[in-house]
Amino acid sequence: MLKIGILVSGGGTNFQAIVDAIETGNLVDTEIVTLVSSNPNAYALERAKRHNIDAVCIRKKDYDTDILYQQALIDHMKNKNVGLIVMAGFMVVIGSLFIKEFENRIINIHPSLIPSFCGNGYYGLKVHEAALKKGVKVTGATVHFVTEETDAGPIIMQKPVFILDEDTPELLQKRVMEEAEWKILPRTIQLFAHNRLKVIGNHVKIL
Ligand code: GAR
Repeated sequence: MLKIGILVSGGGTNFQAIVDAIETGNLVDTEIVTLVSSNPNAYALERAKRHNIDAVCIRKKDYDTDILYQQALIDHMKNKNVGLIVMAGFMVVIGSLFIKEFENRIINIHPSLIPSFCGNGYYGLKVHEAALKKGVKVTGATVHFVTEETDAGPIIMQKPVFILDEDTPELLQKRVMEEAEWKILPRTIQLFAHNRLKVIGNHVKIL
């Protein structure tokens, strides 16, 4: 059984998609052992409570240094024995101590087709605003392993979403979530749980 720890900052619809996939039997051999929010008001915390999932808030600003913050996150995940960490709408840029500790065991969902509209400053609605401003006709979502460079780790899975003439950033965000994010995130976790992801350099082979 793969034990997963989930990192969130907000609404938690991706977290909910994972919970739903487990509850409906679409994601097996996987257990959510903890949810960590960077934000005490995140609705994701409420969702965790409803599903009886362990949930805590760990805030960077409560620690004297960034290293102490990272160490607290590491200690928490280790105490819970997690085998995979899922960043599901986690809006904190996390340091190398944490990333090295869980090398090739942290995945992130990003709401664009990387390498478009990603990296520092591209998160949440800003990603969709940028896609509409550029006038691209196709966007989507990407799940990738997390490395020290923001949104640059090995890509595991992507799903395209067509942009419509009437799209606003909010409408596009919703469609990218529904059509892409909520599908490819549970699917990736399933592959990881079944040891079917092999990282070779900056590539991921699905076995
Ligand atoms: C999602 O669209 C996720 O892809 C994005 O934030 C949203 C969180 O929604 N993540 C990033 O932008 C990370 N760079 P949720 O809390 O409802 O899952």
